[in-house]
Amino acid sequence: MNVTVAKYRIAWLRGDGIGKDVMDAARVVLDALELDAEYVPGEVGWEYWRTEGDALPDRTVELLKSTDCCLFGAITSKPKQEAERELAPELQGKGLVYFSPIVHIRQLLDLHTNMRPCKAYAGNPLNYRDDIDLVVFRENTEGLYSGVEFYPLPDEVRDALLKNHPKMARFAGVPADEIAISCRIFTQHGCRRIVRQAFEYAKRFGRPSVTVVEKPNVIRETSGMMIREARDIAGEYPEIELWETNVDAMAMWLVKNPQDYSVLVASNMFGDIISDLCAQIVGGLGFASSANIGDDYALFEPTHGSAPKYAGQYKVNPTAMLLTVRLMLDWLGEGALAERLENAIAAVIAEGKARTYDMGGASSTLEVAEEIAGRL
Ligand code: NAI
Ligand code: MG
Repeated sequence: MNVTVAKYRIAWLRGDGIGKDVMDAARVVLDALELDAEYVPGEVGWEYWRTEGDALPDRTVELLKSTDCCLFGAITSKPKQEAERELAPELQGKGLVYFSPIVHIRQLLDLHTNMRPCKAYAGNPLNYRDDIDLVVFRENTEGLYSGVEFYPLPDEVRDALLKNHPKMARFAGVPADEIAISCRIFTQHGCRRIVRQAFEYAKRFGRPSVTVVEKPNVIRETSGMMIREARDIAGEYPEIELWETNVDAMAMWLVKNPQDYSVLVASNMFGDIISDLCAQIVGGLGFASSANIGDDYALFEPTHGSAPKYAGQYKVNPTAMLLTVRLMLDWLGEGALAERLENAIAAVIAEGKARTYDMGGASSTLEVAEEIAGRL
């Protein structure tokens, strides 16, 4: 018997809401590209929280570990109390705590680099201007999203801070349940890793500059560490300029002169915020792709969430997802397929016939995907 094994094993996590719609669109183009892959479906999201008390069941984690990479739709998350209320009756009162599967996967598989390209494709009526071509590198596992948080504030933590930092004195008398602390944790290793990725990308694609976006004048220790490491690493890339911009000013410059910037690098929260801003100036969530990259695994997902109000209507723009597929192909080393896909997406945007509602059109998610597939 002749058993053929596909070249790639890809975890296929559709998730919730429009995550399912756009993953179906992804399949349309992947099939048209005839990628030699096996797509292995996995269970993740709200349904599994409600029925099993775990939005990321162990079997799904195992699946991820047995594949080359993952394509991910989107999931629904809800605040703590609401999440508890929606649990199946037999699971309530057991102390189960909801956590976001995507944040968990990033930490579990050490997907330290979040990369978000934001490019203006000619003819997109939602472009802020047509000459924007930014790529944001966001540190994905530490910083303010490390999850080291305190509320109510334990006495031992307060005492240790009082003993070690004079500025804590002003909070000495605040009752434990009236004060909350979220730690912004940077490691030298984490800073170097993300900055290195940004410079390597700039080198590979001939980008002229890397801008590190922090706030070292105020957040001296953490942002200070990032800037120090960025300067050190920049020394190895004399052909690429290092620019340093404070995050608040960056928000302003990105609205004023986005065409002046090329590669941006930032810690977790600043990168999160700046990348949303960048996404909006090139058409918004319908165009925002992202990659979560580790040393030997990667997960690819559009930036948008599950948009429950459009779930299952096949109405939303698949472009973000299809540009995400492009990132996956590139990471797999299928550069030629990646380029064909990007060219087809660009051609369909430029032509302007197949457009979803956000672009002022009436095409469905799958009609746009099929139009793109038709040009491959
Ligand atoms: P969202 O991104 O799901 O949707 C916000 C709005 O953006 C939508 O109502 C729609 O008008 C527009 N939109 C989003 N994707 C679009 C597309 N492909 N084409 C056209 N328009 C699009 O954000 P929201 O409403 O804040 O969150 C909904 C749920 O998604 C929440 O449960 C949230 O926790 C979750 N979420 C999940 C993420 C993930 O899976 N990584 C990321 C962000 C939110
Ligand atoms: Mg965000």
